[in-house]
Amino acid sequence: MKILLTGGLGYIGSHTAVDCIENGHEVVIVDNLSNSKIEVLGSLKQITGKNIKFYKCDLCDFNKFSKILKKEKPDQVIHFAGLKAVGESVQKPLMYYNNNLVSTLNLLKAMELCDCNNLIFSSSATVYGEPKSVPITEDFPLSATNPYGRTKLMIEEILGDYQKANKYFNVVILRYFNPIGAHDSGLIGEDPNGIPNNLMPYITKVAFGKLKQLSVFGSDYNTPDGTGVRDYIHVCDLAHAHVLAINKNTENKGLLIYNVGTGKGYSVLDIVNTFIKNNKVDVPYKIVERRPGDIAECYASSKKASKELGFKAKYNLKDMVTSAYNYEKKHTNL
Ligand code: NAD
Ligand code: WQD
Repeated sequence: MKILLTGGLGYIGSHTAVDCIENGHEVVIVDNLSNSKIEVLGSLKQITGKNIKFYKCDLCDFNKFSKILKKEKPDQVIHFAGLKAVGESVQKPLMYYNNNLVSTLNLLKAMELCDCNNLIFSSSATVYGEPKSVPITEDFPLSATNPYGRTKLMIEEILGDYQKANKYFNVVILRYFNPIGAHDSGLIGEDPNGIPNNLMPYITKVAFGKLKQLSVFGSDYNTPDGTGVRDYIHVCDLAHAHVLAINKNTENKGLLIYNVGTGKGYSVLDIVNTFIKNNKVDVPYKIVERRPGDIAECYASSKKASKELGFKAKYNLKDMVTSAYNYEKKHTNL
């Protein structure tokens, strides 16, 4: 099938492009490069041996984007494009609402114009707000605690309304938990601009001396070691969930929603200590105050994705920390 990936040069999109190609699909990427680099395209060619068609285009530019969609006529679209930094979304809410919502509305309008009726959407565990318990199942109440999360929630609702109005429209909403790690080749991985907000890219920067020390946000949570617990999933496992979702969309089921996590929770100190042990490096850290807005524990029930998509995580925590380290090593000029 021909699959168009919006935001396909970003962290999750690039890994998904590889898995799509390895599963026999043709990939077309549209990205405005606001949070990715054109060099990723070369790395994708190196990994897959395939020339991938790329358009530099902002999805907020309807005229330009709809022409691309009309020309390419993909069988399915995977919509990764979006801004994703929680803190920045609090500072610049309008930028987040504009980029994430307008791009999605433009995508849906353009898909309608060219009769493309199959979509996979990148949602997030953030839509569960402060979950009442763990593991989290897909039917838990939804809420948002910041503008970024609210864009995901709003888009989920928009997709629900649109699907009700258009019975030919199939959409799989994937709610990602915490993706970390990198492709085995070390050629693609997570490369955030500036100082990372997320735990794993921060750890890798500290390990290579680019940042002095990690701040562990809180050690007084009601968790086994007092630090926050999350469901970390290898980005290649997450990428594969999209290939499974492509297959699912062909069953014409309308709207489907799946958590994509491993179902296991690890604490901040589990991650730091596994990273230190397996990569044989030092990661200086100190315990500081809790980060405002953080929750104690968040991990998925992955039963629905396992039963209905056939999803099963292949990689363990050791694979996640070693691949993250190897990617940073390859991209650091020591
Ligand atoms: P990323 O920033 O690496 O990738 C997003 C890509 O979209 C970037 O390449 C960026 O240049 C592009 N983009 C942004 N706005 C665009 C626009 N208007 N037009 C065209 N391209 C645009 O992020 P990622 O980690 O790969 O995340 C992909 C998706 O998954 C995002 O929607 C994000 O909100 C969601 N998500 C990510 C995580 C995570 O922890 N990484 C967790 C849950 C959900
Ligand atoms: C993980 C754990 C922190 C950094 C965020 C978004 C969520 C989703 C994934 C997009 C927490 C602790 C972190 C640090 C630390 N993204 N930590 N020191 O907060 O679970 O989720 O990314 O949808 O929406 O909110 O991920 O990696 O920031 O934090 O101690 O320097 O690591 O407190 O317990 P989070 P994270």
